Amino acid sequence: MAKFTLPANSVVKTGLKYEAADGAKRVRNVVVYRYDPDTGENPRTDTYAIDLDKCGPMVLDALITIKNEVDAGLTFRRSCREGICGSCAMNIDGGNTLACTKAIDDIKGDIRVYPLPHMPVVKDLVPDLTNFYAQHASIEPWIKTSTATPPDRERLQSKEERGRLDGLYECIMCACCSTSCPSYWWNSDRYLGPATLLAAYRWVADSRDEATGERLDELEDPFKLYRCHTIMNCAQVCPKSLNPAKAIAELKKLLVLRRG
Ligand code: SF4
Ligand code: F3S
Ligand code: FES
Repeated sequence: MAKFTLPANSVVKTGLKYEAADGAKRVRNVVVYRYDPDTGENPRTDTYAIDLDKCGPMVLDALITIKNEVDAGLTFRRSCREGICGSCAMNIDGGNTLACTKAIDDIKGDIRVYPLPHMPVVKDLVPDLTNFYAQHASIEPWIKTSTATPPDRERLQSKEERGRLDGLYECIMCACCSTSCPSYWWNSDRYLGPATLLAAYRWVADSRDEATGERLDELEDPFKLYRCHTIMNCAQVCPKSLNPAKAIAELKKLLVLRRG
């Protein structure tokens, strides 16, 4: 898995250390990035020793245990606890992934947990995804048609047409891919990034959508699409095993083909 470092301007000090309860036998350290913009202090890492015998098997279980039993102020997003909602995406053991599907046993040594890289941090493990979501909205992620809807049925697809959406529709918008992409790190103001481009291709590939030309026009831009330099971190980290790089390549191919 691709590993990432924090941006050079991040000064992260070693913070507090919480010991495990007396008698704990299987103890692991969870080293967690802490940042509260309201204090005006630099980020720090706090270390929590947890008893694995009293904690579920996933990294999210460890974070919930810490929040419930040690430090109620620890802030992170989560909802489904089964890899569906995408909200618990964070950087664990150097790689972007979902805390709820990352097993503690798969990590050697201390469990290091940081927010997704190169995003503004709202608090602790919560990144500000405002720009990420705005970019997703910018590709108009819904079916667009110009012909009249059939009066007696839905717009149908053949099995093959439906099959072309496999590997695309499963995206849970967790942002693991975009925040692993160096091109996105440096140009996230203008480069759409792998998650949004995969979504863009999902609608281009949909046989029912009738706005392909318009969608491709929007992407024909030196930054929005062409800042992808095939670095491939996106495909390595995706917790749903999707391949945004392939979707981006398909978009580039369609743009070449339509030039004739
Ligand atoms: Fe997450 Fe994968 Fe979708 Fe990227 S492509 S947002 S990593 S599910
Ligand atoms: Fe980035 Fe993936 Fe392209 S990591 S450069 S979007 S292949
Ligand atoms: Fe929903 Fe992890 S809590 S994906």
